[in-house]
Amino acid sequence: MSRKQRFLWQTMTAGVCYYPEHWPKELWRSDLERIKAAGLSVIRIGEFCWSIFEPSERVFCFELFDEFMQLCVETGMNVILGTPTATPPAWLTEKYPETLNCNREGTPYRHGCRRHYNYNSPVYQKFCARIVEKMARRYGQYPCVVGWQIDNEINCETDEFHSQADQVAFRRFLQEKYVTLDALNQAWGTVVWSQTYTDWNQIFTPRPVLNDGYNPSYLLDYYRFVSDSACRFAGMQADILRRYKKPGDFITTNGLFNHLDNHRMAEESLDVYCYDSYPSFAFGLDRAPKTETDLNDRKWTRNLTETRSVCPHFGIMEQQSGANGWTNRMEGPAPRPGQLTLWAMQSVAQGADFVSFFRWRTACFGTEIYWHGILDYDNRDNRKLAEVKDFCDKLRTLDPVCGADNVAAFALIKDYDNQWDMDVDVWHRRVQSVSEKEIFAASELNHSPYNIVYLKDETDLAELSAYPVAIYPHPVMLSEKRAALLEQYVAGGGTLIVGCRSGYKDLSGKCVMLPQPGLLQELTGTDVRDFTFTSPNEEESFALWDENRLETPVFNDILTPLEGTEVLAVYQTSYYSGQAALTRRTYEKGQVLHLGSTFTRDSVKRLLAFAGVLEPFREWIDAPEGVEAVMRERDGRRFLFVLNFQKEPQPITLHSDAVLLYTGETRRGTIVMSPFETAVYELI
Ligand code: GAL
Repeated sequence: MSRKQRFLWQTMTAGVCYYPEHWPKELWRSDLERIKAAGLSVIRIGEFCWSIFEPSERVFCFELFDEFMQLCVETGMNVILGTPTATPPAWLTEKYPETLNCNREGTPYRHGCRRHYNYNSPVYQKFCARIVEKMARRYGQYPCVVGWQIDNEINCETDEFHSQADQVAFRRFLQEKYVTLDALNQAWGTVVWSQTYTDWNQIFTPRPVLNDGYNPSYLLDYYRFVSDSACRFAGMQADILRRYKKPGDFITTNGLFNHLDNHRMAEESLDVYCYDSYPSFAFGLDRAPKTETDLNDRKWTRNLTETRSVCPHFGIMEQQSGANGWTNRMEGPAPRPGQLTLWAMQSVAQGADFVSFFRWRTACFGTEIYWHGILDYDNRDNRKLAEVKDFCDKLRTLDPVCGADNVAAFALIKDYDNQWDMDVDVWHRRVQSVSEKEIFAASELNHSPYNIVYLKDETDLAELSAYPVAIYPHPVMLSEKRAALLEQYVAGGGTLIVGCRSGYKDLSGKCVMLPQPGLLQELTGTDVRDFTFTSPNEEESFALWDENRLETPVFNDILTPLEGTEVLAVYQTSYYSGQAALTRRTYEKGQVLHLGSTFTRDSVKRLLAFAGVLEPFREWIDAPEGVEAVMRERDGRRFLFVLNFQKEPQPITLHSDAVLLYTGETRRGTIVMSPFETAVYELI
């Protein structure tokens, strides 16, 4: 099976998160029966229950879960069991304060919320290993258990760690990487501002410095260290679970957070990946008022696409079913009728074969009394439950889609070095963040979905060559290996599209003393001799491409074409008016398009059209911008997901016969979709 995934769901599966410890035992059986009756066949439990499993040091207590799991066996409910390491008990952190995470000032985060521990404390690791082993021993062979979730949302709440143990581990990480302090000083350029280190013990995780003006190469290595620590922490738990679980039961974790190489974690430790999808954040009360071009809840498609890159047939461990809110933040509206199904289908459309709702019933106490579940406090049937049932009925008709691959018009290339450099470097962030949003918007509005390929030195050419077109928006940092892979991709017939600011740093974040775009110059056939931000106080930067206006905002590389490079568009503004803004170079069997600016939804649309990959489904469907249309494909069978994200009806036209899987009806021609309506058609 693929490197990215060792477990596949065999049928579309729906579930829900359940907290037996929150409810009187008398409710358990009726809850399980109602959950089953709704069409949900699996529950995720236990992920925050450390103080129940180990109420005091080395005293273990499984009675509550034994009793509950016995009921699960009786009622035929499947269980995903979470390891409880995101919530250490009070006795643990009080007696062993070194297990706590600290902020940059070194002040510990105290007991009272969650995720307040650090990955590197040997004491914490020992306690975690013990509780995970106890649970795995006890429940590993339990008949109702089908999978294990490691921790909960690794790197959520904070993605920075500054405990004493982190200082020690950070130095060890750096010693392994650089061996000598000389090499480290070189790589970080510490000669600037007398930052040279003469002893490893002078190095700390980021502490407060003036103006947050940290050495960027140092910060970048710090983020790599955080990722390494998280991966090892997950690996430690996975190794234990693997020794006790039944063959066929999966190991997973949930969520997608920063400073974490999810691909590495998945490859080393997990059988399948799960995401937590809460599109209602788009309508949160503290969000800026909606703008015309805002994609709102459709932006979750971008996160789901990201998840698909980690694991093509992933699961959703937590799917929004009610309104958002902690008691101190994140207030949001309830999903409108239809949106619960819409968002769950959005997950399935993007590759999820398992959808588990968060949560069965809203908590009556604690910080999350406003993070609503399917049922409300009163425990009565309601419209959300009716919608969950309806979703489950629909999901059952989608079994043929289970395991089907998403069809992508093009690849978006990303990599963790550039991603974390964005957190360090505002010049980088300003270009990359806007381009990623705009590329997504272009893909979404024009029904031209993409897959993300994460580039690493060891990435296989085959991963890239699966796509005729690849956009690597701003490969600020490059290594020789990555540049060589791009070269092979283009030589083999690929179209590579890159934007401004390409190739001017190495992987330690140092600028290379080469003409830009550095290692890509032979491929792009361009020389960047001058470059500038476009100032918001000047006229908007634009170019002309075939006499049409081409937006060239944010940053402009002024391109000098080298011999054999064709100029496609020319700047019309500022002191470089008349010079090249977009070029094309054919290279062996392929071509490279170099855009001197960031991307806009309009420029991406034109570039995709130029490269011949815009709107790959237009042969089958015409859909307005407000509707998402994506395709999953398996064994020659094609499934078209059509999702109306609007609160107004939207017309679509099917150009040939298609079977609506929900009902088995054959349809063709113009169909008006109701507000928030979803449909899955098999093309025949
Ligand atoms: C997730 C988390 C859940 C719950 C939910 C709602 O981040 O995994 O435990 O907190 O959000 O806040």
